[in-house]
This record gives sequence, C-alpha cells and structure tokens, in this order.
Amino acid sequence: MNQITSFQVNGTAIEKVIAPRTHLADLLREELNLTATHLGCEHGVCGACTVIVDGRPVRSCLTYAVTCANSNIVTLEGLEQDPVMGLLRSAFNRHHALQCGYCTPGMLATAYHIVTRLPRADEARVREELAGNLCRCTGYMGIVAAILDVIASGPHARTLPELTRANFEPSVAPILAARAASPITQALAASAPTAPIVGGVTLSRTAPVATSVDRLWAAISNIQTAASCMPGASVESINSDGTVTGVYEMKLGPIHARFRGLATVNFDNATRTGMVRGNGGDQDKRSAAEGEVRFQALPQPDGSASLKLDITYRLTGPLAQFGRPALVAALVDQMLRVFAERLGQAAEGKVMTPDAADSLLKLIWRSLAQFLKLARKP
Ligand code: FES
Ligand code: FES
Repeated sequence: MNQITSFQVNGTAIEKVIAPRTHLADLLREELNLTATHLGCEHGVCGACTVIVDGRPVRSCLTYAVTCANSNIVTLEGLEQDPVMGLLRSAFNRHHALQCGYCTPGMLATAYHIVTRLPRADEARVREELAGNLCRCTGYMGIVAAILDVIASGPHARTLPELTRANFEPSVAPILAARAASPITQALAASAPTAPIVGGVTLSRTAPVATSVDRLWAAISNIQTAASCMPGASVESINSDGTVTGVYEMKLGPIHARFRGLATVNFDNATRTGMVRGNGGDQDKRSAAEGEVRFQALPQPDGSASLKLDITYRLTGPLAQFGRPALVAALVDQMLRVFAERLGQAAEGKVMTPDAADSLLKLIWRSLAQFLKLARKP
C-alpha cells in the first residue's frame, strides 16, 4: 500500500505518496526531477546512483524510498554551491577524471565523503574507498589523483552535518509544516462537500446510457467500476476514512499531465444521486485542480437510463491554460460519450471498450478539433 513519506531533499522538506517498491533513485529522478543521480546497473554494483543519506553515501538503486522517511538526502544538485564539492569538480577537470561522465555523479558523491572523512587517506585507502564505484571509460588514475589532490589541500570540514535519524528529529518541523500545506493533506481536510468552489466553472450535461436505471446506478455507485469507465482515470486506493485516492492522466503531444489527489464520494440510493468532490495536483507541472461532480441516474420512458452531470472545476498553475470553458466543455462532451458507453457495457456485464492511451489521445484531439471549430464560429 502506498505510503505518505516525509524527508528532506537538498534542504527542502518534501512529502510524497510513494509505492513501497519505488527505489530512491527513481523517486529522485522521476518524481523530483533531480537527474544528476545516474542509474547504471540498478543492482548495487556500479555506484553511479550514489547519493548522501543522513551523511553517508548510499546506493539509491538499492534503497527503498519509503525507508528514507525522516532522512536527509543530498544529491549533487544540493552540493552545487558547496566549497568542497567545488574543489572536487575543479580537480576532476584538471586531472581528466571523466570521459563520458556517466559514473561521475556517483564518483563525486563518494569522493566528497572520502575527502571530508579521511583527511590523511593515501592512494591505497582512496582506491579501497572507491571500490564500489565503477568507471568504464576513464580508468581510475585521474579519479584517484583528483581525490588525492583535494585531500592534500585540506583538511576540509564538511559543510553537510553528519546526520543520523536520532538527531534529525528537530528538523522535522519544516516537513510537518510542508505537510500541512500539501495538496494531499488539504484534500483530507477538505471543507464540507457542499462548500462552493471559489472561481470555478460549471457545466451541465446529460447522456443516454444503454441499460436500465437500476443497473446504471449499481455500476456508477461502485467506485472502481465507475473509475474504470472513465478514460484516463484510475483509483489507487479506497481509504479507511472513506476518501478515495485517485489519478487522472492525459497526454497531448509533449504535454503529459498527471493529477493525483483525494476525493470524497457520497451516494444517495433513494434518489440515485451522488457527488464526488476532490482536489489534487500535478507537481511536475506545478498545477492544481479542484472539482465537484454531482450526478444522477434517471429512468427513460423506453426503459433505458440517462446520466445527468453537473460539473464544477477550477484549474490553477501553468495547466490552467487548458482549462478554458469552451475547451473543457468540448473535452467533457467527448469523454462523457465514452464514459456513458462504457458504463452501459459495465452495467450489462459486457466487455468494455479498452481504455488504450491512444483512444484517450484521439478523444482529446477530437475535443481540440471541436473547440477550434467552435472558436472559429463568428
Ligand atoms: Fe545503483 Fe549501479 S545503479 S549501483
Ligand atoms: Fe565514463 Fe566513468 S567517465 S564511465
């Protein structure tokens, strides 16, 4: 089960929901865009992924990110202004200690630890300490010479505190403050579901669904089933407090948005109405979304059903440029058509139309075409 994990990365308090199998290197590179950390072998042999955790070099490919809770993680990005790292970079340059540079981030992280911990290390000791870092093109002569050069100009006091989990506790305060401000925590503390979304855009739609109203209601009041019918949406977990953690993903050319957040869901079986209210964010795009969908399953005279939706949403951040009402209305129309078709199939126990990524893409392109057609109308 995913876990909310708090730590410091390069001095910044971070809170992330992390799958237990995620290793630290993937978290740093994929989630935090800290790509100075390289991945070579991914099984603990080459040392390219070395970062400093609680003052010690560790292989981030072998370290589960969730085990770094409350730890202080430093990558090369965090040592950019560090004077000792500056000396090491210059020495690597002088001694031609890199060629392709792939091993270099790991070499530098280990070298930093050597020169600040072992002020009297000789060549044999440096080679021993470097044994966990492999270089496949430069060879080790220049690397060892560069490290010895920096040691000779020392001793160098480390500017990074040698942290342990025990003495890290006082610096947890900023993490807790960041946690209180995080979209996840804010969603958990979301105001009463009836509170209006300030500055939101509202639109209403009704779509026919090829099933009876009872079957439609059974399908839509099952959160997993309803989410599986919505292109791009998935449920990560239904939490013990009744909230739902979910993801909505869309790709459009170079734009890849992935909103992750929490929602509260209410159903009223007597009136066959319900409401989803949630908020989430795409951290990479620094964008946030807040939305509410009120829905109702309605019987039709011919025995089929229809689904009525009242949608209110608000987008903030760079992705808000795609939240213009006409564009969203065109997208909602396309998505609702697919959603209603798949809900009908699910309600009737049929195999659903696959939710392939390209079908979502086509859907979005169709929405854009529709939007542009509307925009050209006088
Ligand atoms: Fe981690 Fe090679 S990538 S040791
Ligand atoms: Fe290429 Fe070391 S410089 S692997």
